[in-house]
Parts: sequence; C-alpha cells; structure tokens
Amino acid sequence: MNLDRQGAEGNGAASPPSASSQGAGNARVLSGIDELRSRARKGLEDGAVTPSYGADKETVLRLLNEALATEILCTLRYRYHYFVAAGLAAESIKDEFLKHAQEEQEHADQIAERIVQLGDDPNFNPLGLTERSHAEFGNGQSLADLIRDDLIAERVAIESYKEMIAYVGGDDPTTRRLFESILAIEEEHAEEFASMLSNVRLASP
Ligand SMILES: [Fe+2]
Ligand SMILES: [Fe+2]
Repeated sequence: MNLDRQGAEGNGAASPPSASSQGAGNARVLSGIDELRSRARKGLEDGAVTPSYGADKETVLRLLNEALATEILCTLRYRYHYFVAAGLAAESIKDEFLKHAQEEQEHADQIAERIVQLGDDPNFNPLGLTERSHAEFGNGQSLADLIRDDLIAERVAIESYKEMIAYVGGDDPTTRRLFESILAIEEEHAEEFASMLSNVRLASP
C-alpha cells in the first residue's frame, strides 16, 4: 500500500481547504442555508457525494476496494480454518473460526455499501483478489500454524486500517468512521488469537 497523501495532493503538510473552511486564517465559517441548499442541488447524480466532499475519491475508492479484498480473503481463510480445525480435534476453536468468518463478512458488506454510496461498484472479482488484499491466505498445517496465520493477518489489517484512517483524515468522515469501527474489531481479533496461540502452545507437548 502506498499512501503518499502529501505527494498525491502536492500540498505539503497542509490539508486542502474544504468548502466550509473559507475565511481568514484557520477560522472555519458555516455556510448559510441558501448556500447549503444551492450546493446540495448541484450534481444530484453523485448521490451522497456532495460538492464539499474533500477527499480524493479515486484514492478512497481504491483503499475501500483493497480493504474489501482483505475482508473477503479473511472470510475465506476463517471458513477454511473452521472446516479443517475439526480434523485437528479443536471444537471450541472451530467455533471461534466461524464467528470470525461471520464478522469479517460483515466488514466486507459494510465496505461494499460505502463504495456504492460513493458511486462505484465494489470489486468482488476473484481475479486479483490476493493481490488487492493486504493480508495473505496463509499455508499453516497444524492448529498452532493456522492461528499464527490468523494473528499475522489481523496485525496486517490493523496496520493497514490505521494507515487508511490517517490518510482519509477529516476529508471523508464517514469512511474514516467505518475504518475506525472495523479497526476496533480487528484489534479484538488480534488479542483473541494471541491468547489462543499461547494456550495452544501450552497445551502442545
Ligand atoms: Fe475484518
Ligand atoms: Fe479480523
């Protein structure tokens, strides 16, 4: 992932002024009702994206589609782990894998919904999925290896969501909040897998 916010905007450390930040210095002013109504009427075909949308939409859509690929890949990995864990005599851990598969699927759906709100089609194409995804599928064989693959994937997701949150900043608050809410869950996942990994290692001869 290459998130060169400054380079992309050619604007150094300063954020571009939004439509609501005109005025002297850093003082922000609120638009009058007529101005708000007038702006909202422009570009109706853009749906939720109004003229004050402050982010680079193409970049945000790319990030959202990368996050979508990550969540789809994680869903597939957890479902795979759910089925193979049965053969590893790990019933309680099997249930954990299924729960995680469902939560990653919810994340994928939330991200796809946001892409539609921004006027694009979410990329569900399996071609290139592993290249678009930040996390990897993994190739663990033992139960400890499967959990280790999951922990690594969660930590990759945490890093990438943090970077994307920092990139989006205040320019697209809805996308940022979505990333923040998913990040909180991924941190819970990582903590759970770290505990699971140490328990499995302790239980192994
Ligand atoms: Fe997720
Ligand atoms: Fe996760």
